[in-house]
Amino acid sequence: MNPSSDQITRAHTEKMDANDPIAHLRDRFVLPESDIYLDGNSLGPLPHGVMERLEKAVKEEWAQGLIRSWNDADWYPAPQRAGAAISRLIGADEDEVIVCDSISVNLYKLLVGALRMRKDRKIIVSEIGNFPTDVYINAEVAKMMGCELRCVLPEEVEQAIDEAGENLALVQLTHIHYKSGRVYDMEGITKRAQDLGGLVIWDLAHSAGTYPVQLNGCNADFAVGCGYKYLNGGPGAPAFVFVARRHFETMHQPLVGWHGHAEPFAFTQEYKPHASIEQMLTGTASQLATLVLEAALKVFDDVDMNVLRQKNMALGDLFIALVEQELGGMGFELASPKEAEGRGSQVSLTHEHGYAIMQAVIARGVVGDFRAPDILRFGFAAPYVRYVDMWDAVHHIREVMQTEEWKRPEFNERRAVT
Ligand SMILES: Cc1ncc(COP(=O)(O)O)c(C=O)c1O
Repeated sequence: MNPSSDQITRAHTEKMDANDPIAHLRDRFVLPESDIYLDGNSLGPLPHGVMERLEKAVKEEWAQGLIRSWNDADWYPAPQRAGAAISRLIGADEDEVIVCDSISVNLYKLLVGALRMRKDRKIIVSEIGNFPTDVYINAEVAKMMGCELRCVLPEEVEQAIDEAGENLALVQLTHIHYKSGRVYDMEGITKRAQDLGGLVIWDLAHSAGTYPVQLNGCNADFAVGCGYKYLNGGPGAPAFVFVARRHFETMHQPLVGWHGHAEPFAFTQEYKPHASIEQMLTGTASQLATLVLEAALKVFDDVDMNVLRQKNMALGDLFIALVEQELGGMGFELASPKEAEGRGSQVSLTHEHGYAIMQAVIARGVVGDFRAPDILRFGFAAPYVRYVDMWDAVHHIREVMQTEEWKRPEFNERRAVT
């Protein structure tokens, strides 16, 4: 069906669900009956099996096994195992990815480590409007290492790389933008920077688990990403970090701790980095959270990322077509690329009353989120979002506008987390 050629009906969307080859994946999640959950781009839902894994880890392995469980329950290599499970989703080798800390912390490690590899170069290129944590850490590390941070508009990135020339140390970008959902050309930008002798660090927060990223196919150097969005690892899930194998020996991250040591249990006074991805570890893993993430990743065991991508593009196209069909003249503007190829698995709309509208829509059980100053974000995680959800969500938005429900005082009070 081409949604834009005809008037779309709810029956059309039900038919699309009936023909969806991955509709069965929805059964792998615990989803509240009354919700249409369009915020897996911020916090993924609970996969079945995770609760049982956590209960076992707490009741048996911690309560009964105690310290023995680091060995007996195989706790110690959980960051490597979870990293290996993620590697398949992002086109890396199993031993090039490890789970630890947050994106922010891992980004700091990579930035300092990469700049140390390019000591004679002084320019970092990033984007104006990159996720704030990325901007803060880029700026702080640049100051600390005597470098210049050049943040430019997305359409100026390539020019900024070229202008930096032989002084380009590295490029740090978020592959899929957290507000607009716009996708960067990972292969092209990586090559452009590397041709000048620079390195590239990709933030995959909005890519991992929803976009068929090919890190090694793009000859990527470094990447970070989080566990709590499309990977469904739960609130505060640990992040992951990727280092291309060719950099294992030359990249030395600054947050050296005993878990990154070649022999952590030799307890030597002198630091010697592990010769593998394990050097990215610092201290003891957040163990329960790591076990939860590992269990959550089983959702993807037999999933083809290309099939997920086809569905999230189709969901986005359908949502945009329905917004055009149902919400015309209500003040909404599309803030994401219209073409599916250039968009991740979210669609953002702007509206001057975006915050209150989103609160009113959430109160009806259509859960998206809001990003200042005026963005309503809707994420379409293909494993559990249905085509019919697009129809129902847009109709709830329409009713919220028609009834002026969003004007109610409770929807206009700003809460801590948007
Ligand atoms: C693109 C991007 N980078 C980084 C972060 C922050 O990651 P963390 O809280 O793990 O440091 C987020 C969080 O939403 C994000 O969207």
